Amino acid sequence: MAWKNWIKIAFLWFICLESVVLGATDPGDYAVLDEFRKGLSNSELLEWPTDNDDPCGKRRWPHVFCSGSRVTQIQVQNMGLSGPLPRSFNKLSMLSNIGFQRNKFTGKLPSFNGLSSLQHAYLDFNQFDTIPSDFFVGLDNLQVLSLDHNPLNQSTGWTLPSDLANSAQLMNLSLIGCNLVGPPPEFLGSMESLNALRISHNKLTGEIPTSYSGMPLQILWLNDQEGPGLTGSIDVIASMTMLGDVWAHGNQFSGSIPSSIGALTSLKRLFLNGNQFVGLVPETLMSLPMLQSLHLDNNMLMGPIPKASFSDFSYAQEFVLPIDTRGALLTRSHCTFGIP
Ligand SMILES: *[C@@H]1O[C@H](CO)[C@@H](O)[C@H](O)[C@H]1NC(C)=O
Ligand SMILES: *[C@@H]1O[C@H](CO)[C@@H](O)[C@H](O)[C@H]1NC(C)=O
Repeated sequence: MAWKNWIKIAFLWFICLESVVLGATDPGDYAVLDEFRKGLSNSELLEWPTDNDDPCGKRRWPHVFCSGSRVTQIQVQNMGLSGPLPRSFNKLSMLSNIGFQRNKFTGKLPSFNGLSSLQHAYLDFNQFDTIPSDFFVGLDNLQVLSLDHNPLNQSTGWTLPSDLANSAQLMNLSLIGCNLVGPPPEFLGSMESLNALRISHNKLTGEIPTSYSGMPLQILWLNDQEGPGLTGSIDVIASMTMLGDVWAHGNQFSGSIPSSIGALTSLKRLFLNGNQFVGLVPETLMSLPMLQSLHLDNNMLMGPIPKASFSDFSYAQEFVLPIDTRGALLTRSHCTFGIP
């Protein structure tokens, strides 16, 4: 009955082949993960086995996700991991989603050059101190990028390379507190998918580029720039009719609040406090249907205090006191003088 043996052999061979095809991790991907682990001072937190060099195999490694033999995700957010990322990081060329945020990663960010499948990249709240100039090259599918709160290129500051303009599907870009200098990047104005731009707490200067006119942003955070801050008018903001959330406080914006701001019918929050605005508050602003929070204090606005139909409204002016407040202050100082 030799044929029975042949069936047995064929069957075993099939099992073996199946485990090779479905189990074995790409050796290049394994090498990057291994280098990553070896560079960390507390890699035990990952619980990656040392007796199993097949992260995509039957006993898949924790925090690693694969498609076939290729690593597609690493999710290690908020684990307290300490150390650098490997220089060879971009050899994980099938990565689509990484969550490295809220750890203690240090040193140079590796280049992400060529990670053409990467869609979501969270690197925020770490201690990366350098960003290579080719970081943004070839990120053809990028949708969300966050580098918030990393001390990147601290001594010189850095400007956003225009390679990012090729990431046509970019929706959310968050670069809060990471030492950007110069004006807000002009090329972002032509990114048609961008709906959330957060660039607060940097060292940005100059004006909002006219290229931002009509951008489909829902969220725009420009607040609290270190140093001189952003200048010029906010007329461009009034042209972004999808806006719901605008944080522009803590800058040197000037001129008047344009009455065209009445076009922002989705606007819920507007923070303009701590700037150099002058003139009257346009009525079109006070009657926006969705508005819930409006901070106008610490400018040089004038005229009667506008009436707001919501409670989160601040207006007190730093330099020119509105009529009511001045009346109250005069009364108080009169009393003080009256004390013998
Ligand atoms: C950050 O600094 C490094 C080292 O000084 C430099 O090579 C690199 O080009 C800078 N990054 C950017 C995006 O300018
Ligand atoms: C992207 O930004 C939008 C707001 O425009 C927000 O609702 C959404 O949760 C963000 N997505 C991610 C993945 O961060």
